[in-house]
Amino acid sequence: MQERELEQVAEIAKEEIYSFLTLEEIKDWLSSMKFPYLQIFVADNRLEIDLPADIAGFISWRLYDQSVNKVVLEIFWMAIKKEFQKTGVGRDLFITSFDRVRDYWEGRGMTISAILVAPYEKREGAQRFFEKFLRPSHKALIPDVWGTEFAKQGIVVMSKILTN
Ligand SMILES: CC(C)(COP(=O)(O)OP(=O)(O)OC[C@H]1O[C@@H](n2cnc3c(N)ncnc32)[C@H](O)[C@@H]1OP(=O)(O)O)[C@@H](O)C(=O)NCCC(=O)NCCS
Repeated sequence: MQERELEQVAEIAKEEIYSFLTLEEIKDWLSSMKFPYLQIFVADNRLEIDLPADIAGFISWRLYDQSVNKVVLEIFWMAIKKEFQKTGVGRDLFITSFDRVRDYWEGRGMTISAILVAPYEKREGAQRFFEKFLRPSHKALIPDVWGTEFAKQGIVVMSKILTN
């Protein structure tokens, strides 16, 4: 990922997820994981092909675990800029990026056996999004992860089993 793209991705992550982190901290965190262990895909907001592209949102797929010939992937961070939310950008990005990570891992002889994602309890929009498009096989609330810091909210772990 080029520096300009990383900068834009970090700005969206700060705006939509991590307001309390600095841009440098967010960029450090993202850069600490390298391809193929973290694969970041962006959606651009171009309405016309000859306009300069700006990033409307991103999704990142992390290698959570692997066996001899299977991998478990996690949707690590995903965010769409406020003005593009609920217009289908997230859905398209989720579907097209999944095809690409699957092709990548299959090209290495690995099948994706499960996908994990863990939105915060209070992120009801994100939960609805993953309910609708990931269609999880399992869901569990891990309550009160953050103590009083984030109003005692927990994490909703969702998983989709793809193969056995
Ligand atoms: C969650 C998110 C990535 C979804 O992307 P999106 O482009 O807005 O979603 P789409 O337009 O493709 O899909 C819309 C569907 O997602 C769900 N959804 C998305 N945002 C929602 C919201 N604010 N409230 C309720 N449902 C929402 C709904 O199911 C909606 O379909 P519906 O209106 O027919 O019920 C985006 O809203 C976002 O960036 N949110 C803030 C950051 C965040 O929570 N990231 C996830 C952290 S794990």
